[in-house]
Amino acid sequence: MPYKFNYMKKNIIFFALQLSFYSLFAQEHQMSKGYIIPNDTIVQHKLKKWQGLKFGLFMHWGTYSQWGVVESWSICPEDEGWTQRKGPYGATYNGYKMAYENLQTTFNPTKFNPNKWVKAAKYAGMKYIVFTTKHHDGFSMFDTKETDYKITSAKTPFSSNPKSNVTKEIFNAFSKENFLIGAYFSKPDWHSEYYWWPYFPPKDRNVNYDPAKHPQQWQKFKDFTYNQISELMTDYGKVDILWMDGGWVRPKNTIDTLVDWQKAITFNQDIDMPKIAAMARKKQPGLIMVDRTVAGQYENYTTPEQQVPESPLNHPWESCITMGNSWSYVPGDHYKSANQIISLLIKIVSRGGNLLMNIGPGPDGDWDPVAYSRLQQIGNWIKINGEGIYASSAIAPYSENNIYYTKSDNSNTVYAFVTSDKEAVTLPSKITLHLKGINKVKNISLLGVSKKVRWTVNKDAIAIETSESLQNQSGLLQAAVYKIQY
Ligand code: GLC
Repeated sequence: MPYKFNYMKKNIIFFALQLSFYSLFAQEHQMSKGYIIPNDTIVQHKLKKWQGLKFGLFMHWGTYSQWGVVESWSICPEDEGWTQRKGPYGATYNGYKMAYENLQTTFNPTKFNPNKWVKAAKYAGMKYIVFTTKHHDGFSMFDTKETDYKITSAKTPFSSNPKSNVTKEIFNAFSKENFLIGAYFSKPDWHSEYYWWPYFPPKDRNVNYDPAKHPQQWQKFKDFTYNQISELMTDYGKVDILWMDGGWVRPKNTIDTLVDWQKAITFNQDIDMPKIAAMARKKQPGLIMVDRTVAGQYENYTTPEQQVPESPLNHPWESCITMGNSWSYVPGDHYKSANQIISLLIKIVSRGGNLLMNIGPGPDGDWDPVAYSRLQQIGNWIKINGEGIYASSAIAPYSENNIYYTKSDNSNTVYAFVTSDKEAVTLPSKITLHLKGINKVKNISLLGVSKKVRWTVNKDAIAIETSESLQNQSGLLQAAVYKIQY
């Protein structure tokens, strides 16, 4: 009896301590919305640099592009809109998964030419890239030693191509043009027998066995993941960002940012991120880690998906948004117009974020021609107006109607972007800007236009008058930008 009482008492004290520690922890995190400033100063520096780059290229590419279906999700046994199985193999789950994995044997993207991509992305003003080295389906787009389900396997026809290690080719090509390099890596792996153990059928997106009951099996998965990330950090030159998707692979009771995963998680899926991070940062000092939606040391920026936050966030962030409707290649996908993309970029940057814009390469290894044409148009605009985008920060009131503001990080300059829903903006004859604290203006000009702009300052209001001849200047393109030096 006394033993039992003592045991219970100890347990109660331990539990109470845990609870108070946890609520302190939770309180602190809620205040900062879960974000923690990384304690490594080299990471802080790289993060600052990355924040100044504003515009990046995302690419979802895998064997799935051959069917033009959603990336990976059609093999996930969940009944959601985006997991629908289509086509001749859709009738049974097992038949479908087999056919899907068999796509490896026909994947031959012979038009693959990353130099063409860099050229287009660079012209558009993109400054970093994030590429799907492995998505949830587990197909490795790099030469891993951990599995044969990879682009460089003899089973994949493209393996005989000298550029078959596409991750390496892409990273090299973009590095040469000084892009920061990001490796997207899915933590869940729906091909690995250590994640979806063939002993059980897969049930949903989660691991299909309880890691607590089968620790040896889970350890194998941890080792597999660690080794694959280690390969990516060792053999692919300088990597700046490790962008890890699949937020349900996480220790239970960790705090969520942006997405509420807790409902969807069946098991504790701790893959030992501290160990992965220590290894990765030893090989890649200053590596930015994006353990998406898992608040803490390893989510160095947050990643709102297909959306733009209503106002600035109190930490570094990046909206990832598709140029078409889909992350993966879909023939005849509907692409956003250049004006829509430029407006998105402006809105995001005015709120202190970055835009990571996705283009899905097709099965032949190239993009839809529409994507090139959009990048060309964006580049034409950036050439004139990019100085208001890069190395800037948010400044209150961030926006007024269709006018968005940024402030240069390096000089006393504010930029006012006048956006439009047309492919060429028409300026109103008069606009009034309310920038608090800026009441001594040295000069105002319109980017790309040499004619003088007339303005007056009255307390905190700057009134700009635009002559008729300036209102429709062809050089203004999708959005016109006033440069306000003070
Ligand atoms: C969504 C998709 C996933 C994709 C990701 C990119 O979560 O389900 O497939 O990789 O967005 O942000």
